[in-house]
Amino acid sequence: MFHSRLYRENVMNRFAGRAVIVTGAASGIGEATAKRFGAEGARVTCADVNEAGAEATAAAIREAGGQARGAVCDVSNPDAVKAAVADAVGAYGQLDVLANVAGIGAFQRTTEVTFEQWNRMLSINLTGQFLMCQAALPHILKTVGAIVNVASVAGLKSHPYSAAYCASKGGVVLMTKALAVEYGRKGLRINCVCPGGIETPLIAHFQLPDGVSQAALSRISPLGRMGLPHEVAGTIAFLASEDATYINGASIVVDGGMIA
Ligand SMILES: NC(=O)c1ccc[n+]([C@@H]2O[C@H](COP(=O)([O-])OP(=O)(O)OC[C@H]3O[C@@H](n4cnc5c(N)ncnc54)[C@H](O)[C@@H]3O)[C@@H](O)[C@H]2O)c1
Repeated sequence: MFHSRLYRENVMNRFAGRAVIVTGAASGIGEATAKRFGAEGARVTCADVNEAGAEATAAAIREAGGQARGAVCDVSNPDAVKAAVADAVGAYGQLDVLANVAGIGAFQRTTEVTFEQWNRMLSINLTGQFLMCQAALPHILKTVGAIVNVASVAGLKSHPYSAAYCASKGGVVLMTKALAVEYGRKGLRINCVCPGGIETPLIAHFQLPDGVSQAALSRISPLGRMGLPHEVAGTIAFLASEDATYINGASIVVDGGMIA
């Protein structure tokens, strides 16, 4: 149901010779992003805490004629992140692009959020992206490449029952801007995308608390449908490409007009 298109036709080849790491590559937006980079000629490290899923995405890229490797990595673990980035650079000899897609989400009444749940959300969604950026930056500085982080419309506007998720995604938006101004003079570009409701397995985790009406939340865009993973992947690839050389520190909303 959530299979992504492979873009074998009418697709550009903007990443030939480039090496890319995509986190969260086992599923949803990360899977679609890894496949998009693979279809555009990149050598892709498909990283995920789900090792089998990461390898399955890499295998699909290879079967479609691309180059890819699976890599197990929990982005919230500093040692695992350092090892995964070092392995990726060792395998492909360089690193041009980091796409930070891995993330988790859930609706919960704030009074019911445990300390552990709050910390887990922040450590995967925000600290995980920071750790990946920190480990990747020395390599991306050498290739003068680009980083694309995945935030959310929940990082730009309020969502009920989402204090931890909103805090983590708002953090990604501002971390992206901070890195963009820190590294812009060295030629790096660091941007983020802010998807609205996208049809991926993550959506199943966003169940409203008991007794809360669906009217509390509108996830449908004026286009009358949810987004598809490849529609976010295309924006991530654009931001990482030389079609976007004057876009830096931006938060690109990909929500079909939901928060317009
Ligand atoms: N689907 C949406 O509507 C939506 C909207 C806005 C933002 N996003 C963001 O997009 C990103 C991708 O979400 P998705 O919808 O594709 O979800 P998904 O559940 O389909 O994929 C998320 C992937 O991240 C991986 N992951 C989770 N924890 C990890 C960890 N600690 N280390 C490494 N990998 C880990 C999972 O194994 C999974 O493969 C997330 O950051 C999410 O917050 C999604």
